[in-house]
Amino acid sequence: MNGEAKRAMTALPGGDAGQGMPAHVAIIMDGNGRWAAQRGLPRFEGHRRGVEAIRRAVRTARELGIRYLTVYSFSAENWRRPPQEVSDLMGLLKLFVRHDLADLHTHNVRVRIIGEREGLSSDIRPLLDEAEHITRDNTGLNLVIAFNYGGRQEIVRAMQVIAHKIKNGVLNPEDIDAAAVEAHLDTAEIPDPDLVIRTSGEQRVSNFLTWQTAYSEFVFIPDYWPDFDEAIFRAAIDEYFKRDRRFGGLSAKAV
Ligand code: IPE
Ligand code: IPE
Ligand code: MG
Repeated sequence: MNGEAKRAMTALPGGDAGQGMPAHVAIIMDGNGRWAAQRGLPRFEGHRRGVEAIRRAVRTARELGIRYLTVYSFSAENWRRPPQEVSDLMGLLKLFVRHDLADLHTHNVRVRIIGEREGLSSDIRPLLDEAEHITRDNTGLNLVIAFNYGGRQEIVRAMQVIAHKIKNGVLNPEDIDAAAVEAHLDTAEIPDPDLVIRTSGEQRVSNFLTWQTAYSEFVFIPDYWPDFDEAIFRAAIDEYFKRDRRFGGLSAKAV
């Protein structure tokens, strides 16, 4: 087992107790619609500008040496939006993969997609598979795209697989521990997020990485996602550096 997998097995985030650069930053990219409304523009324009903010975030993550960057781009609940907006968001994902995959690959970025693939249209699934396949051996930044993702749904799917294994006699109930659950999540082998950033001033989790954020630090930013830039990203990391991560134990300063 490599170091990354081992860390993932421990159910603790990938960083080193807040001392160094967070190994995994996960972002709830929120506020595209409000950004557009503020300017009298259609919501689509906010989403389009939001894709540009993703490109900036990827570049900054690479520069900072962050190992994993997860972006929440479509939640399992976002299907509740008007069909036109859902279709716009699907279109933008397709555009992003088609347009940016070569560039990401050139920069040694490994792309992973988490979330439910069943139910996605037949022109999206192969694109996601292709993005993962082409970049699978890359060793730079790991870009994790949470698409049609819901933390609860992910845990339910993992439970179903585990239940089938038990039924088929390949797993014993006694073997189920935190590591076994993690190994069945979409994020298997990805360390838990050290830092979760949410833009737009909302202070909630919205079904994002439910299991994995047990000990993550949260930074909430007032800016809308299309305005997210390097300075905001760096400020969020600076805020993270000030945190004292205890994981239920005592502060490093106290021992
Ligand atoms: C985030 O922006 C993008 C997605 C959730 C897909 P929103 O579309 O949620 O923008 P607001 O929250 O309505 O401003
Ligand atoms: C969370 O944002 C989902 C994504 C960023 C993809 P939402 O805008 O959907 O969340 P709520 O509805 O405000 O909680
Ligand atoms: Mg929103």
